[in-house]
Amino acid sequence: MKIFLDTSDVGVIKHHYQTGLVDGVTTNPTLMMQAGRNPVDVISEISSVFSGRGYHIGSISAEVVADSAEEMVLQAEQYHSIGENITIKVPCTYEGLKACRELSERDIKVNVTLIFSLNQSILAAKAGATYISPFIGRCEDNDIDGIDLISSIKRVFKLNSITTTNILAASIRSIDHVNDSYKAGADIVTLPPKIFEEMYKHVLTDQGLAQFDKDWKELNK
Ligand code: G3P
Repeated sequence: MKIFLDTSDVGVIKHHYQTGLVDGVTTNPTLMMQAGRNPVDVISEISSVFSGRGYHIGSISAEVVADSAEEMVLQAEQYHSIGENITIKVPCTYEGLKACRELSERDIKVNVTLIFSLNQSILAAKAGATYISPFIGRCEDNDIDGIDLISSIKRVFKLNSITTTNILAASIRSIDHVNDSYKAGADIVTLPPKIFEEMYKHVLTDQGLAQFDKDWKELNK
């Protein structure tokens, strides 16, 4: 059960990495635009965060943006040269799946993104993807049951003994999406940082802590 952060903000990643609970990072062109910096520099810095401590090298998804599989592979090579923890993210299109096949054959990890159907998941698994990213929030925006999609993918992968393609739930908008994704069988959930922060908060924890603090002060008066 792994947690990734869905952000290109290196400062935020460094902060949450200190918890020891973060197993990887996903980025995309929109998140890169928000960061407003050179994507190769951003991916290099994120890669170093995970290489800095011994316990986990993580998986950092860097998305290629190109019209042809050949161009995707060229961009992928540049990202892959940054470090062993780089995963190449390609869209679930004809060209993206071709690129996935070629990169997987070279033992480069691939995350096939923008998955909205079981059919796409089956093709991505056959193309050798290490990760597939069903977009839960965007499924719901379009009246598709994203959580049911995860359950279906899980069931089909199990029936066909597909063990090398991990279901990475993405486009997560709430803590209920997190819980429901894991319940449906997601191997990984990638979280916007604010959802990660919400996960450890509970009003009853705050109330209980306030009472404990008060009683501790009373005892030590
Ligand atoms: O992981 C994909 C994510 O960045 C997209 O999220 O909320 O824009 O659909 P959203």
